[in-house]
Amino acid sequence: MAFQNIIVETRGKVGLVTLNRPQALNALNEALIAELNEALTSFESNPGVGCAVLTGSEKAFAAGADVKEMAEKGYIESYLGKFLDGWTRVAETRKPVIAAVSGFCLGGGLELAMMCDLIIASETARFALPEITLGIMPGAGGTQRLPRFIGKAKAMDLILTGRMMDATEGERCGLVARVVTADKLLDEALTAAAKIAGYSQPIVMMAKETVNRAQEMSLSEGVRFERRLFLSMFATEDQKEGMQAFIEKRKPRFQDR
Ligand code: CAA
Repeated sequence: MAFQNIIVETRGKVGLVTLNRPQALNALNEALIAELNEALTSFESNPGVGCAVLTGSEKAFAAGADVKEMAEKGYIESYLGKFLDGWTRVAETRKPVIAAVSGFCLGGGLELAMMCDLIIASETARFALPEITLGIMPGAGGTQRLPRFIGKAKAMDLILTGRMMDATEGERCGLVARVVTADKLLDEALTAAAKIAGYSQPIVMMAKETVNRAQEMSLSEGVRFERRLFLSMFATEDQKEGMQAFIEKRKPRFQDR
């Protein structure tokens, strides 16, 4: 598939997707989401890719769902056409996805970033859920994921006022994992992704799945889930290799099995 709205590359074991609709500040239209899903599916089935990075431009990660595409939509058309159903692909990806965010990260753009496993932001990043200013509310998970990230008080503040939050505030309240200067953003994200991709792929995937269960389960059920997967890791060759390498004071050679 030739992509019109994104650029897809692999850098070593890292899959890189760059959102590329500069004329619309990377507003997320249906064609872009379909292409993004296609790219993630190809990373998922490629054993040579261990982690993905999703980024935008210096000015905008993504300024939200495409308002021009949405403006004339009706309810029945949206309902029957399953509008927004395709947006969950990022959250369903089993390999880790890092969002590298610079500039505007608004509405659906923030919702997409929150579906990733961690957000690395440049100092210029600006986060908001401004849907309220358009006569709607967030519709791609924003009302559910944002309070889980930053708590009810701040989520209400952002969702009901539509105000923008800068990268420092984003890091302070737990939305953002790291903040770096704009010129270092992609390097920082690619380096983190390469590090993750260098570990055992099934173990990384299980660790990701287990952390994500914490959003859904009670503590005791989550701990049980963790214990089950933890014990299952002792059936892998990579556990034997990782521990043997430590004992022999050498680097492990993980085989992803
Ligand atoms: N959809 C469609 N087009 C968009 C867009 C969007 N979300 N955001 C920006 N654009 C377009 C603008 O219309 C403009 O196009 P033209 O040159 O053809 O007029 C171009 O991108 C550049 O934008 P601006 O001229 O507005 O740039 P600016 O620097 O003055 O302002 C901005 C930047 C503050 C991000 C402003 O563009 C803006 O407020 N954008 C909309 C943000 C928004 O409301 N996002 C939420 C969308 S709803 C949603 O996401 C629903 C959901 O939950 C799924």
